[in-house]
Amino acid sequence: MSFDSHVRRGHPVIFGLLIFFGIIELAISAWLVSRYNLHRADRGATERDRVRFTLFAAIWTVVISIFYLALFQHSASTGSVATSVMSHLIFLVLTWIIWTTSAAAVTQMLGGGLNCSRGYTYCGQLNALEAFAWIMWILTTFAVIVVIVRGIKASRRGDGMKGQLVSA
Ligand SMILES: *[C@@H]1O[C@H](CO)[C@@H](O)[C@H](O)[C@H]1NC(C)=O
Repeated sequence: MSFDSHVRRGHPVIFGLLIFFGIIELAISAWLVSRYNLHRADRGATERDRVRFTLFAAIWTVVISIFYLALFQHSASTGSVATSVMSHLIFLVLTWIIWTTSAAAVTQMLGGGLNCSRGYTYCGQLNALEAFAWIMWILTTFAVIVVIVRGIKASRRGDGMKGQLVSA
């Protein structure tokens, strides 16, 4: 199978996984944010703000991934600016930066991970928040690498970054 058909088949899988795990992360962070609106967080404003940022990251990823998934199904071959290599690269690099920030911030806040036998509030949920943030980071890292390889191949072929992610 050519790289092209791998991309064609892999696109809905990767974006499907981004949406699936994004919704899980959205649910965990939204639940935590709603708790913090009622109760203080163990680590105060830092914890609240980092969880809020993760909620933003999850909403951003889910909404835009649904958009890309739908658009790609609809017009991958005919193509538009939005299904181009450049458009994917910009979205995925931004998303990668957002998840790097979120996963690193949550990990640092929890000191790598909480020991739940020590009686932290929302301990299991916070550890899950960290784990799923890293899953999102791994998925976006993989997607960025694929798009960069695709971009290099496209520019060798002569249609550059403005070219489509898959050829017609
Ligand atoms: C977690 O904390 C408990 C109670 O302080 C301790 O007994 C246990 O060894 C700790 N576990 C880890 C993996 O650090």
